[in-house]
Amino acid sequence: MKPKLHSTQNDLREKTRRAMVELLNQHLADALDLGLQAKQAHWNVKGLNFIALHELFDKVAEELEEFTDDIAERAVELGGVASGTIQVVSKHSRLAAYPLKLVSGKAHVVALSSALAKFGTTARAAIDSAAKARDADTADLFTEVSRGVDKLLWMVEAHTQAKD
Ligand SMILES: [Fe+2]
Repeated sequence: MKPKLHSTQNDLREKTRRAMVELLNQHLADALDLGLQAKQAHWNVKGLNFIALHELFDKVAEELEEFTDDIAERAVELGGVASGTIQVVSKHSRLAAYPLKLVSGKAHVVALSSALAKFGTTARAAIDSAAKARDADTADLFTEVSRGVDKLLWMVEAHTQAKD
């Protein structure tokens, strides 16, 4: 994923913009994968908590879609090309493949929690990478994404945090 940059009047240094476009595109691939994983759970979950989980997983996918849009557009704002095709996602996502055979609410909750946690970890690390590169706006974007994913993780993981 070597970023080619368009010329722009944006005053961030080219080196910074290049690094940020790469960081953003990596997270775009991860976030698009995560959004599809939430949809996979939304479509296939079954059991007594069906309707609550079906709706929750859709909400997760919808919120992730907003984040992916912000991440992709920030890459373009910096002169980059947003790499959001399914082929790029498939090649570059760092998430574990979502299992196709899951059925129960518990199984989907566990799998999606783990994927959200993994993405949350790298999004949090991206805040520091962007700050170190002196791009406060990309750091702010990752702060928003990271805070949002922490909330989504809570809403999914809470189903496993009590015995009954
Ligand atoms: Fe649906």
